[in-house]
Amino acid sequence: MKINKDYLNLSENYLFSEIAKRVKAYSEENPEKKIIKLGIGDVTKPIAAPIMEALEKAVSEMGDSKTFRGYAPDLGYSFLRNAIAESDYKARGCDIDPDEIFVSDGAKSDCGNIQEIFDKDNVVAVTDPVYPVYVDSNIMAGRKIIYMPCIKENNFVPELPTEKADIIYLCFPNNPTGTVITKDKLQEFVDYARKNDAVIIYDAAYEAYINDPSIPHSIYECEGAKEVAIELHSFSKNAGFTGLRLGYAVVPKALVREGVSLNHLWARRHSTKYNGAPYIVQRAGEAVYSPEGKLAVKKQVGEYMENAAFIRKSLIDLGYEVYGGENAPYIWLRAPFDMSGWDFFDLLLKRANVVGTPGEGFGKFGAGYFRLTAFGDSENTREAIERIKAL
Ligand code: MLT
Repeated sequence: MKINKDYLNLSENYLFSEIAKRVKAYSEENPEKKIIKLGIGDVTKPIAAPIMEALEKAVSEMGDSKTFRGYAPDLGYSFLRNAIAESDYKARGCDIDPDEIFVSDGAKSDCGNIQEIFDKDNVVAVTDPVYPVYVDSNIMAGRKIIYMPCIKENNFVPELPTEKADIIYLCFPNNPTGTVITKDKLQEFVDYARKNDAVIIYDAAYEAYINDPSIPHSIYECEGAKEVAIELHSFSKNAGFTGLRLGYAVVPKALVREGVSLNHLWARRHSTKYNGAPYIVQRAGEAVYSPEGKLAVKKQVGEYMENAAFIRKSLIDLGYEVYGGENAPYIWLRAPFDMSGWDFFDLLLKRANVVGTPGEGFGKFGAGYFRLTAFGDSENTREAIERIKAL
C-alpha cells in the first residue's frame, strides 16, 4: 500500500482550519474575552423568510408519502436549473441551457473536484494571493502550478500568464482582495484561452456583490467564453446557504477538448460520485429566484455591503492602506508598520480580540496584507472597528 505522496506537498493545515485552531487556543486560555470573528467569510444573517417558507414546505413534503422524494436527479432538479438559466444567464443576455448547469453542494466542492476531469500534466495558473482550494486540490493531484501576481501595481488584477497555462483559475469579485475585473480585461483571458487551448475555471461566488454596472457578473458576458470557460456559483454568499450547502457549475456543451465534451465528462463524474443536493435545499434554492426571494437576498447583500463601506471608510480614516470592499464583501488592507500578516493577526486577536485572515495564508504576494470580511453582524462589525481604533 502506498499513500498519495502529493499530499505531503501540502501545508500542514488548510488555512481556515489553522486560524480556527489558533482562535480556539486563545479563547480557551482567555474564556472571558468576547472574540469578534471577521476571518472566514461565513455569513451571519439567517435565511430570509421567503426562502425559509420554501424550505419548510419541502421538509413537510418529505414527511408525506404523496409528496416524498427519494434520490434527486444526478445533475439537479429542473425547477432549479431552469430558474438559474433564466435569472442568472438569460436575464443578463447569456445563453446558457439548463443542461449545461450542474447543481452541487457548493462552490468549494466544485472548485476542488473539477480538476479531476483534467490530465495530471496540465499546467495550472492561479493568482497570488488566491483562494487556497484551487492550489491545494491541484497539489493533491500532483500538477504544476504557476502564479500570476496580484499586487497593488496592477490593482490586484493579474496579467496573462507568462508561461503557457492549460488551466486558469480566476475569481472575481476576488477572494481575498475584494477587487474586480473589467469586461475588457476578462476578455483578454478568454482570448488567451482560445489561442492556447486553455480552460478557465471562473469562480463567480461573489457576483451578487457587484455594484458597478460596468463589471461583468459572468464570464459568459465575454465573446467566445462558452468554448473555454467553466463557471462556478455559490448560494452561500448571496443567500446565506453556508450551512445549507448549495452551488452550481456551468460546463457549456461548446467546451470540447481533444474531441471530448467536458460537459459529458463532468456529468459522468457527477453522476458517479455524487447523489445530488438534497431536495429540500434545492427547493430553497429555487425560492432565491422568486420575486420575493430576489428582494430579500438583495436586501441582505446590501446590509453586508453597508458593513463593507463602514470598515473601508473607518480604516482609511485611520490611515490604513485599504483595497476592495466596494464590489465585494472583502476588505484587503496593508498591515501597519510593515508587520507581517500573521503578526498583525496575533496583535488583533490578542489586543482587540478581533479575528481576520493574514494575507500570507493566500500566497506569497499576500505577505504583509490582511483580509477582513463584511459578513459579520453589523453591531459586532462596528465594535470590532472601535477596538481597532483603540489599538
Ligand atoms: C473564505 O473565507 O475565503 C471563504 O469563506 C471560504 C469558502 O467560501 O470556502
